[in-house]
Amino acid sequence: MSNLQGKVAVVTGAASGIGKSIAVRLAQAGAAVVVCDLNGEAARAAAESLPAVAAGKHGFVAVDVTDKEQVQAAVRAIVAEHGAIDILCNNAGVSTMNRIEDLTEQEWDFNFGVNTKGVFLFTQAVFPHMKARGRGRMINTASMAGKRATPLLAHYAASKWAVVGFTKSAAVEFAPFGVTVNCVCPGFVKTSMQERELVWEAELRGMTPQEVKDEYVRLTPLGRIQEPEDVAKAVCFLASDEADFITGEALDVTGGAHLL
Ligand SMILES: NC(=O)c1ccc[n+]([C@@H]2O[C@H](COP(=O)([O-])OP(=O)(O)OC[C@H]3O[C@@H](n4cnc5c(N)ncnc54)[C@H](O)[C@@H]3O)[C@@H](O)[C@H]2O)c1
Repeated sequence: MSNLQGKVAVVTGAASGIGKSIAVRLAQAGAAVVVCDLNGEAARAAAESLPAVAAGKHGFVAVDVTDKEQVQAAVRAIVAEHGAIDILCNNAGVSTMNRIEDLTEQEWDFNFGVNTKGVFLFTQAVFPHMKARGRGRMINTASMAGKRATPLLAHYAASKWAVVGFTKSAAVEFAPFGVTVNCVCPGFVKTSMQERELVWEAELRGMTPQEVKDEYVRLTPLGRIQEPEDVAKAVCFLASDEADFITGEALDVTGGAHLL
C-alpha cells in the first residue's frame, strides 16, 4: 500500500460507488480525505466511515460539481480548513442510456454537465493552489467508454472521451508546475450506476438484467464483474510517489474488457 501520510485528498462523487472506494483506499494509505458529493448526508456518512489513519481529519462538503460558485466555495473552504490540496480525484459522474435517435438534449446536457464540465470546474478551482506549491496530483475517472464505441451510451461516451482529452491537455499545461494529471478508464463496475444501467440496457435490448450482466462477465477476460476497489487501487497508485513520472495517461482498469 502506498504511503500518503500528510497528504490531503479531495474526491468528488465519493458518497457512493467508485468514489467512496477511492476515499477509503486513500484514507487507508494515510491521506486526510475530503468527501465531496451532491448528496450531503451520504457524503457525511461516507466521511465518518473512513478509517482514521491520517494525522489530519477527514471531512465532507456538499457540492454540485456543475455549479462554478459552489465548486469554488468548496475548494476555498477545503484549503482554509486543511491548508492545502495534494490530490484531486475528479470522480463524480452520471449516465443515462438511450439510442441516439431518441436521445434528448436534456440527457446530453446532464451527462456533459457532470462528467465533463464538473471535471473542468474542479480542476480549474484546485490548480492555482497546486501551482503555488509546485506539486499536485489530479486523477480523473473517465471510462472504458472514453476510448471506444459504446452504443446506447454515445452521449456518455462522448463526455468521457472529452475527459480523456482534457486530462492529456491539462497534463501538458500543468507539467511545468509539478502537477501530474492522469485518468483511469474502468470497465463494468458493480455500483448503483451499473444497477441502473442493467435495467435500462435490458429494456432497450429486450433482455433481462441478469442476461446483460452475464454478457458483461463474458466481455471481461479476467472473468468477473469489476469491484470499485479494483479502480481505487489504480487511483491510489497514480496518487502515490510510485507514479511521480507518469502524466497524461489514461489507464485501463477493466479486467481486459477494453481489449475485446
Ligand atoms: N460503474 C461503472 O461501471 C463505471 C464504469 C466506468 C466509469 N465509471 C465512472 O465512475 C464514476 C463513479 O461512478 P459510480 O459507478 O461509482 O456511480 P455512483 O452513481 O455509484 O456514484 C456517483 C456519485 O457521484 C455523485 N454525483 C452525481 N452527480 C453529482 C454532481 N452534480 N455533483 C457532485 N456529485 C455528484 C452521486 O451523488 C454519487 O455519489 C463516474 O464518473 C462514472 O462515470 C463508472
